[in-house]
Amino acid sequence: MDLGIAGRKAIVCASSKGLGRACAASLAEAGCEVVVNGRNRDAVEAAAAEIAKATGAKVTAVAADVSTPEGQSALLAACPQPDILINNNAGPPFRDFRELSRQQIIDGVIANMAVAIELTQKVIDPMIARKFGRIVNITSGTVKAPLFGLDLSSGARAGLTAFMAGVARSVAGANVTINFMQPGAFATDRLYSNVEMNAKKRGIPFEQAKTERIATIPAKRLGMPDEFGATCAFLCSTHAAYITGQNLLIDGGAVPGAF
Ligand SMILES: NC(=O)c1ccc[n+]([C@@H]2O[C@H](COP(=O)([O-])OP(=O)(O)OC[C@H]3O[C@@H](n4cnc5c(N)ncnc54)[C@H](OP(=O)(O)O)[C@@H]3O)[C@@H](O)[C@H]2O)c1
Repeated sequence: MDLGIAGRKAIVCASSKGLGRACAASLAEAGCEVVVNGRNRDAVEAAAAEIAKATGAKVTAVAADVSTPEGQSALLAACPQPDILINNNAGPPFRDFRELSRQQIIDGVIANMAVAIELTQKVIDPMIARKFGRIVNITSGTVKAPLFGLDLSSGARAGLTAFMAGVARSVAGANVTINFMQPGAFATDRLYSNVEMNAKKRGIPFEQAKTERIATIPAKRLGMPDEFGATCAFLCSTHAAYITGQNLLIDGGAVPGAF
């Protein structure tokens, strides 16, 4: 399917690996010019070079912390008027909520809520003027089905979801859509480090913890990042213009809800 977005400009935050990288690769494959981002310069430059080589797209690496105003300025300097913005960031570490300090709570809300709002503020009016915009926020399946220990992540992302739900309706008339992707368990470094932590806590081998995790998923496997990337690119396509303010759970059936 031609996604109808060749030549569009995209910023994909936190995209030197994992889900963000897969979104960047799928958008590049669809013909977009893409900005990829991560804090580690070598990693983000390597990712940009690999995606450019695989797709032939123009891919720019921006080594910056998206949680800071300077990092956001660097992203917008590389692509001042994006047509597509993929909001992504690291999630807070697994932790008993009793152990969270006030500062850690605030940092979590900044990373997983405020940053996406700030970037949206900075790109949305030119999108409205051009009558095309696609904003996809990578949140988490834990927004729908909370997981003890990821409470800060779930809470900050649920806040973002509610905040943007109203914004989405206010810009829909200008062909600007805002949607949310809620990953379940995808095969990325982040997921594997959570499995490792769980294995250590329980004193069991990593492979056992991984097998047990997979057994809880109706699809009986982890999600693959390229499946996530392709779905993201579809939400950014011309065909998805009538989908806005929606939360798309991609979890192999893990959350057992009919709606
Ligand atoms: N994988 C899953 O199964 C899953 C499930 C639910 C939710 N999620 C959420 O989805 C998001 C992506 O997860 P993932 O699994 O793709 O993670 P990942 O494999 O660990 O990749 C994270 C990416 O974000 C970059 N990054 C982290 N902090 C950054 C910052 N402050 N500024 C710029 N770049 C930053 C990392 O590069 P640098 O470290 O070099 O900055 C890396 O490229 C996270 O918020 C995660 O909580 C993932």
